[in-house]
Amino acid sequence: MTTAGIEQIAVIGAGNMGHQISLCAALAGYRVRCADVSPQVLQKAEAFADSYLVERVAKGKLAEEAAKRARANIAFTASIEEAVGDADFVIEAILEKLELKRELFAQLDAICPPHTILATNSSYIVSSKIADATKRADKVCNMHFFNPALVMKLVEVVRGPHVSSATAETTMEVARSMGKTPVLLKKEIYGFLVNRVLTAIKQEALYLHDMGVASFEDIDAAVENGLGHPMGPFRLMDLTGIDLSYHVSMERYRETGDMALKPSPTLVEKYTRGEWGRKTGKGFYDHAKDK
Ligand code: 3HC
Repeated sequence: MTTAGIEQIAVIGAGNMGHQISLCAALAGYRVRCADVSPQVLQKAEAFADSYLVERVAKGKLAEEAAKRARANIAFTASIEEAVGDADFVIEAILEKLELKRELFAQLDAICPPHTILATNSSYIVSSKIADATKRADKVCNMHFFNPALVMKLVEVVRGPHVSSATAETTMEVARSMGKTPVLLKKEIYGFLVNRVLTAIKQEALYLHDMGVASFEDIDAAVENGLGHPMGPFRLMDLTGIDLSYHVSMERYRETGDMALKPSPTLVEKYTRGEWGRKTGKGFYDHAKDK
């Protein structure tokens, strides 16, 4: 069931998160336009949508009619104007770089209808750092999904001081309509809830690895078998993207000058080699044979 007043959703960025968020929205019955500047990324996202829906039907997890409806609900485009022209709700899922996000939000503000809510799926950046690039700060908020977005139930909604209660409530409602379990943060805080906890775990794991205390495989095995996490921190970085971990550390280090926040030597090495995890076929682990 969709949320009253919201019929069309635009997702900007068809990468790691955006392609799956688009499918979550299409499966929930929204009309979805998913945009990306890269034709290759768009092509990959569209191919994923096709194969994912077919596989869900084959697995008996989705009725054929529902799959057909979801596929008809979603369109992929290279044009931001086309994606957001009629959108009631926009979810931005582009690179984790503040300046890029600010530029995009200024552009969205200029082309979206006045009622449109502009949500950011940023992993760490609070929306007040972006909202003032628009003339609708009350309609700009954080809506943070988790990877893989089709599977993970949590969505963090962050209500900064500029966000109206109507925007926060609608965003929670849109998340619920996608079958998610949203939590509301009543105050802005960098990294929100989960990524603050996860960053502490990742930093410690990288420190133990760089100190030669244990291999990354054994640190993962320890966290998986000792804490019951489905994936250890290295396996998880491969899933969420080593480039993301690197950019976030660098941005934080540049902002604060705190040496402790600098990316660890292993992270720098992986990043510069282009070993970014599943998306490049290799990260800490080899993913060449992954589907
Ligand atoms: N995309 C879509 N669906 C996927 C998927 C993917 N990449 N990977 C697995 N799935 C689905 C499978 O289709 C299957 O669905 P079904 O049970 O309905 O048939 C289900 O997930 C289980 O898959 P598998 O049996 O193949 O594998 P696992 O049981 O090992 O589960 C996992 C895979 C769900 C990824 C699990 O390992 C997990 O929960 N890992 C931890 C993920 C996590 O912590 N995510 C949060 C990261 S932090 C983050 O996202 C924040 C951001 O800001 C960086």
